[in-house]
Amino acid sequence: MQLLDSLRGEHVLIERAVGALHTYASRRASGLASAEDGAAFLRFFRLYAGRFHHAREEQVLFPALVERTEAPADRGPLLVLLQAHHAMGRMLDELEPLLQRADLSAGEAERLLALARRYGGALLHHIDAENSVLFTESETRFRRAGIADLPARGPDAEESAARDEGERLCAVHPPSEIPDLLRGDGCTACDAYGAGCDGVEREWWSEHEWEDFFERNS
Ligand SMILES: [Fe+2]
Ligand SMILES: [Fe+2]
Repeated sequence: MQLLDSLRGEHVLIERAVGALHTYASRRASGLASAEDGAAFLRFFRLYAGRFHHAREEQVLFPALVERTEAPADRGPLLVLLQAHHAMGRMLDELEPLLQRADLSAGEAERLLALARRYGGALLHHIDAENSVLFTESETRFRRAGIADLPARGPDAEESAARDEGERLCAVHPPSEIPDLLRGDGCTACDAYGAGCDGVEREWWSEHEWEDFFERNS
């Protein structure tokens, strides 16, 4: 499905930009980077990751799953992922003043790095959950519902410019890994598993889907 392929492709750039933000924040904490790219990072994550990418998930993918495949919106993966979009937006609010200011004290630069790690870690976990659970399950459900594709808009001029800035930022600040971040695929790697979400199968599958599953695996 083209929409899911596009969203997966966007994840690749967003993931690299998380690494670039980590490099940038590490450099600022060591006094090695100028402040000028801070606003560009903010534009990338606000406009490209948020207003373009998360918004198409919320406005096109999630409603199609609810309306056309009977996935529940009020619990399970869709609620968890929606809440994560909001939580990451709030983390970006905290980062905003630190990314926009030219002069940071040593303590503020350390805080920038800590917040960049927290935001980046949350975003990478979110991407892992979508790639390994949401998108794979969506493909199955849409195929079963006879839906070949979903109409989705492309980026507007500001969002395209933010994407190009993201590419530039990745070249200037080569992506680095967030230390001690454990990543993994599947529901069991998700923080919400057993704490608000019982996993995609228990949350979404109907009796008929379970019967199908057991038949295929018996
Ligand atoms: Fe998302
Ligand atoms: Fe996503």
